[in-house]
Amino acid sequence: MHSARWDWSYDMKGKKIGMIGNGATAAQILPEIAKVASSVTVYQRSPNWVIPREDKAVGPLKRAVFRYLPPIRWKSRALMMDFRESFYDAVIDGQSPFAGMIREMCIGQMHAQLPGKEDLWQKLTPDYNPGCKRIIISDDYYPAIARDNVSLETRKIERITESGIDVEGGHEDYDMLVLATGFRTVEFMHPIKIIGANGRPLSEIWDGGARAYQGTCVEDLPNFGMLYGPNTNLGHNSIILMIESQSRYLNGLISAVLAARRSSRSLSLKPKPDVIKAYNERIQAVLQNSSFADPKCNSWYKNKDGIITNNWSGTVVEYQQQLSEVDFDDYIIEGDGANAVMGGSKRKINVGRVVEESQVSLTTMAVTAVGVAALAGGMLLRNTRFMESVRVR
Ligand SMILES: NC(=O)c1ccc[n+]([C@@H]2O[C@H](COP(=O)([O-])OP(=O)(O)OC[C@H]3O[C@@H](n4cnc5c(N)ncnc54)[C@H](OP(=O)(O)O)[C@@H]3O)[C@@H](O)[C@H]2O)c1
Repeated sequence: MHSARWDWSYDMKGKKIGMIGNGATAAQILPEIAKVASSVTVYQRSPNWVIPREDKAVGPLKRAVFRYLPPIRWKSRALMMDFRESFYDAVIDGQSPFAGMIREMCIGQMHAQLPGKEDLWQKLTPDYNPGCKRIIISDDYYPAIARDNVSLETRKIERITESGIDVEGGHEDYDMLVLATGFRTVEFMHPIKIIGANGRPLSEIWDGGARAYQGTCVEDLPNFGMLYGPNTNLGHNSIILMIESQSRYLNGLISAVLAARRSSRSLSLKPKPDVIKAYNERIQAVLQNSSFADPKCNSWYKNKDGIITNNWSGTVVEYQQQLSEVDFDDYIIEGDGANAVMGGSKRKINVGRVVEESQVSLTTMAVTAVGVAALAGGMLLRNTRFMESVRVR
C-alpha cells in the first residue's frame, strides 16, 4: 500500500507489516500502525535528522492571554514566522550554529527516547548536513522505534517477492507492505503534456531540469502561470507563503491580459529567455553551495544530475519581496493590446506582499506595555483623587 493510495478498509490489527522508507510520511505512519500491528519492520536506506515537535495542549492561561491581549497573540504569531525564517540558516549552511543546534536536538532526543540503545543510535544518526533532505519533526518516531514489536532493518533491499522482502543475506515474510517511498517530484506537472509557442513541447524546454522565471512562468509558454513550480519549495518555512506570493504576482499578469480582452484586443506575455537564464544562474549559484547539494544525501529536492530543481534559494521574505512587483520588461509582449494596456509609464505594477514577520520588537512592545500601564495607573490615580476631592467638597 503506497502512502498516497491508502486502503482504509484493510484491517491491520494483528498483521505483520514491512514498511519501506523513513521520511516525513513514514514518521507519521509508524507510530499509528505499530499500535495495532503484531509487528512492524522499518526498512531504512538512509537515516534522517529528527527534531522534537513539542506538540502539547495550549493551557488555559495562555488561551486567556491570547484572547484578551490581542497584541500578544499577534506578536506570538509573528515570532513563529521569525523562528521559521531563522531556520533558513540551518537548512542552507551545514556549518551554521543553527545546523549545530539541529544536530544536538536530534541526538539529545534520540538518546533520551532510546536510552542505552547504542546500536540504534549508530543506525539512526545521519552523516550528511541537516537540511540536505527534509528534517523530520516528530515526538513519537523514536518511541515507536523503541517498541518491542518494531524493528529497524538497514540491510539493502534486493527484491520484493510474492510473500515478502529479500535483503542482503536474509528474507522476511509479511502480511502487508507499506510503501512510504515518496513521489515523482522533479517531473513538474507530470503527466500533463504541454505544447508551447511554435509547437515546442514543455519536455524539450525542460530538458536537463525544470526551470521557470520566479517559479511561475516558463520560456515559450505564452500566458502560462503556475503555482509551486520549480525552485519554490522550502525546507524551512511554509509553502503557503510562497503560493500566496505567486498568486498575487500571477494576478498582476492576468489582470493585464484581461484588460486587453475587455477592449477586444489580445495580449501575450512570455518571460524573456535571458531573464530566465540570469535568474536561474543566480539561484543555482546559491543552491549549489547549500546543504541541499551535500553529495552525501539524495533527496526529492534534486534531479539525477544533482541539479536542485525544487527548492528556493533564499528566505520567504526575500521571495515575497521579489514577487511583490510585476516588471513587464521581464516579458516578451505581443498582441494588438500590448500598446493600449502596457504603454506609457505602466511598465511595473506593485502587487504587494503578505507581511507575517515581526514589525515591532519585543523591547518596543515591553516599553509600550509599561507606558500604557503607567498611563492607565496615572489616570486611575487622578480619577480617585478627583472623586475624593468631590466627596470632601
Ligand atoms: N507536513 C507534513 O506533516 C508532511 C508529512 C509527510 C510528508 N510531507 C511532505 O512530503 C514530502 C515527501 O515525504 P515522504 O516521506 O512521502 O517521501 P520522501 O521524503 O521522498 O521519503 C521517501 C523514503 O523512502 C525511501 N525510499 C524510496 N525509494 C526507496 C527504495 N527503492 N528502497 C529503499 N528506500 C526507498 C527513501 O530513502 P532515502 O532517504 O534513502 O532516499 C525515504 O526514506 C516531505 O518531504 C514533506 O515535504 C509533509
